[in-house]
Amino acid sequence: MGRTICIVSQKGGVGKTITAVNLAAALASAGQRTLLIDCDPQGSATASVGIHDIKTGQAFQRAFQETDLAAEVIAHSCLELLKVIPAPLEIMQNDAIPISMVGKERFLHALLARFRTDFDYIIIDTAAAPASFLAVNAIITSDSVLIPLQCELLAFQSLRHTLRTLICIKKKHHLKIKLAGVLLTMYDRGEDISERIVRSARKHIRHRLFETVIPRSTQLRESASFGRPLVVQNAASSGAQGYFQLTKEILAKGKG
Ligand SMILES: Nc1ncnc2c1ncn2[C@@H]1O[C@H](COP(=O)(O)OP(=O)(O)OP(=O)(O)O)[C@@H](O)[C@H]1O
Ligand SMILES: [Mg+2]
Repeated sequence: MGRTICIVSQKGGVGKTITAVNLAAALASAGQRTLLIDCDPQGSATASVGIHDIKTGQAFQRAFQETDLAAEVIAHSCLELLKVIPAPLEIMQNDAIPISMVGKERFLHALLARFRTDFDYIIIDTAAAPASFLAVNAIITSDSVLIPLQCELLAFQSLRHTLRTLICIKKKHHLKIKLAGVLLTMYDRGEDISERIVRSARKHIRHRLFETVIPRSTQLRESASFGRPLVVQNAASSGAQGYFQLTKEILAKGKG
């Protein structure tokens, strides 16, 4: 039964997509049958794994209305064990669709019921809007949530906002979802703010924190344009090594 981890943060640009894509690819490289789901209509995770054909994303979108399309929504990636459900690209732009979606926050949960046993891990990328329709679908169907925390000023304020929103969604939908962990991202060794955020996180939220800290890396930043996650493109790089370490932590501790 696939363990489902949703990557969530109320703040934009904190490393949700990079984390979703590299964690999913690293899990697949470690022999885990993995499904990456792009629940951000911007489709960054979809593009990051080299899928530019929008047909499957359209199937995901249509599946909201025609539930028989389950098999058509899954695409292949550059890794045999990594499958992808690309973003439903136009879902938020089409005014007609949201009205017909009222009450369908459990759509993704119902869709995944057909695939869950085919995967060991399901990783879901979301947009920086946890209360949005697609993100709520993602949260409802997940066992746990991973929150990236960028090493920057006001990081803890955005963490508080994200946790508050998650608690509201959890209560409203009676969920058992757990916190897989908070992941420090874009850490610059020696930089004052980065060091302060890491020290502070280790002091105040140590038990909720992944030990892994993802470094700021130019190669990670550039990797979206390769159409292949950095863990595939350059496994020896520091950014890829960070995500391999996170993957080991998740596998070893059963986090997620
Ligand atoms: N560890 C890192 N080192 C350097 N650049 C990074 C790192 N992680 C992410 N980035 C870059 O920061 C930007 C934001 O990352 P990403 O797209 O993963 O964030 P996001 O939280 O998914 O953003 P959004 O909220 O817009 O979806 C991207 O340009 C990405 O390449
Ligand atoms: Mg993103």
